[in-house]
Amino acid sequence: MTVTIVGSQLGDEGKGGIVDVYGDATDVVARYQGGDNAGHTVVLGGEKYKLSLVPSGAVRGKVGVLGNGCVVNPATLFEELDGLRERGLDPDVRVAERAHVILPYHRVLDGIEEDVKSDDDLAAGTTGRGIGPTYEDKAGRRGVRIGDLLDPETLRSRLEYVVPQKRALVEDVYGLTIGEDVDADAFDVEALYEQYLEFGERLSEEGMTVNCGAFLSKRIDDGEEVMFEGAQGTSIDIDHGIYPYVTSSNPTAGAAAVGTGVGPTVVGRGDVIGIVKAYLSRVGTGPLPTELGSVEGQTPEGGGRPEKADLAAAIRDEGGEYGTVTGRPRRVGWLDMPMLRHAARANGFTGLAINHIDVLAGLDTVEVGHAYRLDGEELLTMPTTTEAWGDCEAVLRSFEGWDDVDWGDVVSTGYDAIPENARTYLEYIADELDTPIYAIGVGPGREETVVVESPF
Ligand code: GDP
Ligand code: IMO
Ligand code: MG
Repeated sequence: MTVTIVGSQLGDEGKGGIVDVYGDATDVVARYQGGDNAGHTVVLGGEKYKLSLVPSGAVRGKVGVLGNGCVVNPATLFEELDGLRERGLDPDVRVAERAHVILPYHRVLDGIEEDVKSDDDLAAGTTGRGIGPTYEDKAGRRGVRIGDLLDPETLRSRLEYVVPQKRALVEDVYGLTIGEDVDADAFDVEALYEQYLEFGERLSEEGMTVNCGAFLSKRIDDGEEVMFEGAQGTSIDIDHGIYPYVTSSNPTAGAAAVGTGVGPTVVGRGDVIGIVKAYLSRVGTGPLPTELGSVEGQTPEGGGRPEKADLAAAIRDEGGEYGTVTGRPRRVGWLDMPMLRHAARANGFTGLAINHIDVLAGLDTVEVGHAYRLDGEELLTMPTTTEAWGDCEAVLRSFEGWDDVDWGDVVSTGYDAIPENARTYLEYIADELDTPIYAIGVGPGREETVVVESPF
């Protein structure tokens, strides 16, 4: 059996926490897209683990796999593994030989391109991890794959082909000087070859590389439980998101098959759980119709609701809405139902985990963007262009707020102990999406989730 965990909004919905909650019954946790742009948090007792590449199942000692759909920076992978080992965990992580490698020039180019795009309001506010440039090279058939790091001749020939192109891009297109404006080693075949061959040797010595599809299929055939851990979220999916303010991969559930080599029929036999934050948070640029307040450098000119800045600040502080990877303050807004209806369809959710209802506790009124108004019409789902989305005005619905309660008591008693007004809010979401609620997050910790249904 498999279970796929997908972000249904703009990332940071609490996917890591839900992977951890359901992780006990799981044998393997596989990431199928993205790279170290992700920041997934698992909180256990007093310990907080922020994971960028290592799948969140590592905290429970489960085997982790980085699928072929991922882009892997071996430097950050080893740093994260070493850090977790120092903290007493023993992560067992395998990496697909077909996964693409993030090289230092990808990070440099990510920064340069964002800079250039910012003049035209096209910057996505990336995490600067080189994600976009690596996926570009994958699609352009000039990428370096994990398997290439194990084969000195192939690695050299790949680098000899691609590095001169990157040098020309930096010098001739962007007019920068290598060694002065950008690090020389990042654009030097010999330096890259030495360093990445060494990474390949370590991957080999630690027995980390796998044929991902074969590895996972064998485990599934043997009766093991596999969880697919999506990164990012549906509205920053390169196909289904708010292009161009998106990431460069597909967080949506279909990618769990493509990004691991497990067939779609196998993935489709299992649950697909949409992770929902009970309000919206966004780190990055582009429109956001239900935004409260605004964040400089991210909210577009004239966007947000300046009169709600205090409410935004209160939710941001209560929810700890600062980027896990970059530390940037996140933009916050009311829940956006058209965005969720779009996500439910694009992913085929079979269940929902709705997090952060504790963060909204204490507000007199909780509002929701039930629909959009665009050109005099009411829309129930997202328009296809981001420009039209930016023109949408949220049609808000109000719900009576709920008090802060002892959430520990709520977890031990179960769903019915959730304050009635919060249940009304949760049931509205489930009804609108025609999808049952599997879990409700009432705090960041493993023990702070009301589990209604277990997918395994
Ligand atoms: P992910 O990227 O989807 O895994 O989410 P992040 O880890 O980036 O962000 C979610 C943040 O909210 C983390 O700090 C979590 O510990 C925290 N969190 C998750 N679920 C809940 C919840 O139900 N309530 C509260 N208060 N915090 C939560
Ligand atoms: P998790 O897995 C929230 C956003 C960036 C930027 C855009 C492109 O923790 O939910 P990229 O570096 O991917 O090229 O940036 O996507 N972004 C995320 N936002 N959560 C994430 O991951 C994100 N990963 C990327 O802020 O707007
Ligand atoms: Mg995150």
